[in-house]
Amino acid sequence: MSHSQTHTLPPPPGSQTMEVALKIWRFDGRTGERALKTYEVEAPDWATLLDVLDIIKDRVDGTLSYRKSCRMMICGSCGMRMDGGAVLACKTRMWDIAQSGHVPVISAMGNLPIVKDLVVDMEPFWAKMRAVQPYVQPGYEVPPDGKEHRISQERMNVVHKEALCINCGCCVSECNSMEADPDFLGPQALAKGWRFVGDPRDGAKIDRLEELNSEHGIWDCTRCYFCQERCPKGVDPRDAIAKLGAESIKQGIDHDMGAKHAKWFVKSAETTGWLRETELVPKTQGVISAIKEVKFALKLFRHGKVPPPIPPHVAENVNEARALHELVRTQGREGALGIVQGEQALARIEPLDWGGASRIAPEESRQ
Ligand code: SF4
Ligand code: SF4
Ligand code: FES
Repeated sequence: MSHSQTHTLPPPPGSQTMEVALKIWRFDGRTGERALKTYEVEAPDWATLLDVLDIIKDRVDGTLSYRKSCRMMICGSCGMRMDGGAVLACKTRMWDIAQSGHVPVISAMGNLPIVKDLVVDMEPFWAKMRAVQPYVQPGYEVPPDGKEHRISQERMNVVHKEALCINCGCCVSECNSMEADPDFLGPQALAKGWRFVGDPRDGAKIDRLEELNSEHGIWDCTRCYFCQERCPKGVDPRDAIAKLGAESIKQGIDHDMGAKHAKWFVKSAETTGWLRETELVPKTQGVISAIKEVKFALKLFRHGKVPPPIPPHVAENVNEARALHELVRTQGREGALGIVQGEQALARIEPLDWGGASRIAPEESRQ
């Protein structure tokens, strides 16, 4: 069943109104006071969450604060949380929610300091974006005729998805690693990082990759995929981070333990068809570290959590894993070109809307 078939179709726009209730976390930055307040208003059937907030501000409480500008999913101003997950308010239609009787809880985005009500301080977000130098550093000769440097769409497709980012912060709001380490560069800055590392016109690729492999960089991502789930534009930042990792290894930038682990898992899958985690420590951190971990490893073994390392367990169909490895090698897809999740993610964006934003709304996709 297609996604659209699972929902009550709204009536023709403007033909009726609906009663909408919201619970909104209010916050006063000067006093630090927080309060959950309920609002009930009548709204047109086509109203989005942003429209409902506008009605509340106009008719009920003019002190309610939130950001907005374009009202059409372009400017990235209206990121906030609905029921604990980040959404763009202007993309979130309220018809189904109001009809179900559910009263959603609206709050400010996570991982950024709250200034007032639903407004967060975006400066930490911009600082991380600035840190990845989000502009092309030309690495090509200027054409002798003085005309523009032309490049094919095919070559630019490598960074097409990442170029769709509208800097809304919804991914940052839900990032697990940023919650644990506020200095982690985070999904938006890293997606922007790939936007320029992958740009065929850029001449600073290696320097950029070195920088992104430092502390608080790509290998600190825990792969929770919440950024992917919450991005309203189909950028899928986790894919971009995977591309940065693969490209770093391809370029020999593999000093981080995360890169060493990734390399070992590829080797392990190729040789046995399994991820042999018991050999991870000796293969990536050396014998001394492995000896220090022996007690812990024995404990895992006694509880049946890991298989014995000797003899190595080889999968019955290991040839399939080896053939796949060979295919990637012969096709020259060792780096970012070998990351296929992006292709799957693109399938979730409606075909006629690649420049727009009609990817299935995250708040709907949970149903
Ligand atoms: S996948 Fe990585 S970058 Fe994305 S939300 Fe999770 S930890 Fe953050
Ligand atoms: S990657 Fe997606 S969620 Fe994150 S800032 Fe860009 S558009 Fe927003
Ligand atoms: S108001 Fe611009 S993206 Fe929502």
